Parts: sequence; structure tokens; C-alpha cells
Amino acid sequence: MEHKKKTAGEKAAEYVEDGMVVGLGTGTTAYYFIKQLGTLVADGLFIKAVFTSNATEKLAGGLNIPLLSVDEVNGIDLLIDGVDEIDHNFNSIKGGGGALFREKLVSRLARRIIWILDDSKLVDQLGKFPLPVEILPFGHTHTLKKLAKDGMNPVLRSGEEGIYITDNGNYIADLHLEKAGDLQQLEARLKSITGVLETGLFINKGERMIIGTERKPKEIINSGK
Ligand code: 5RP
Repeated sequence: MEHKKKTAGEKAAEYVEDGMVVGLGTGTTAYYFIKQLGTLVADGLFIKAVFTSNATEKLAGGLNIPLLSVDEVNGIDLLIDGVDEIDHNFNSIKGGGGALFREKLVSRLARRIIWILDDSKLVDQLGKFPLPVEILPFGHTHTLKKLAKDGMNPVLRSGEEGIYITDNGNYIADLHLEKAGDLQQLEARLKSITGVLETGLFINKGERMIIGTERKPKEIINSGK
């Protein structure tokens, strides 16, 4: 698995060009991309990067990649990030690593997006991977009750010391849906619930995916874009 993540992440670094503002994803696949980017920067590539989590900020900072916060940029030339599940129409579930809010915001600012993944994550239908939603701690028991009443099977995520806390100081409810169904409808329903701040559903986003396999990474281009 590590080999697949590594080759996908390293391949993605080939798409980064001098002068770009690059969005850096979060997670174990993004880790390999960021490590490779660090090598390219050390060799003279000039870019600036926007991070999607505290962990990514720390990793990229340690590699001397020049960083900007999201509030310092108007746009992002290219975002490279992992996914938890993606279908053939470039709909994906993200947030397994808890960074969905920042990842979604950064994805909205990105002119181009490349997803990097190992081949186990490409699926025919989304939903086997529980859909993470970031929820406000205030009144979270009521938000969870509402999600449960709406048939979303929420489970409050736990961390090492009790409830898992996001970089934004919020909680995550993982929705055990099995089948995500109509994605636009699901997104709209979730976003209408008071207390739900953001979902890990990314609908038809991305220009290509780079899939790590046992051999060379495979690329699929989004024909619906
Ligand atoms: C973090 C994410 C990650 O991109 C996603 O969880 C994939 O992670 P990994 O590459 O470690 O499997 O959305 O919030």
C-alpha cells in the first residue's frame, strides 16, 4: 500500500510548475507528494504553498517549502490531495484524516485539482467509507440526534484522549451510510442542519486522479469537466 501511495504522490509532483501557488493536501498519500515537493524546492523549484492542516503545515515547513496561509492568497493554481473514496465521476469522500473543512475551502479556491490515491479507493458507488461531517461542539448532542433522525447513522469520532478535535476546534460525526445515494441532495440536506459546518463530500471535482498500483501509477482524466 505504501508503494502505491508513494508512486502516486511522487508522480503528482511532476505537475507542479515554477511560480505556482500550490495547495498541499493532508494524509499519508499527500505526505509522499509533499516530501517530493520538498526535494524539488531544495533543487531550485520556486513555488508558494497553502496548507490544509496543522500536520501539513508542520511537514512542509520542516522541508523549507515557502508557505502562505489561505487568507493570504486569492487563488490556488494547483491543489494535490488524497481521498478516502472516489467514484468514476470524480465524486469523492474526504476527511478520514479530519481535515475536511480546510480541504474543502482550499479546493474551492483551486483552479486545478489532482487527486492522489491507491487503487483500493476507486469505487463504483460512494458510501462504504463513512462520510465525515465537521460539527460544532456547542449543542453537538442535538446535531447528532438530528443526523440520526434523518437516517444518517452518525458516530461521533473519538481521538486518543476522548472526543476527536479538528484543527478548527470542532468535532466530527462519521456518517455510516453504506450507499450515499443522490449526492447533491445529500449535501444540501446535511448543509441545512444547524450545527453541521461542512461535509467531506466533494462533488465532481478535479481534473485528474493519479492512482498508485503495483506497477506504474495510472491516470484518469475527468471528462465531465
Ligand atoms: C484528510 C483527507 C485525506 O486526504 C484522506 O483521508 C486520505 O488520506 P490518506 O492518503 O492518508 O489515505 O481527506 O482529511
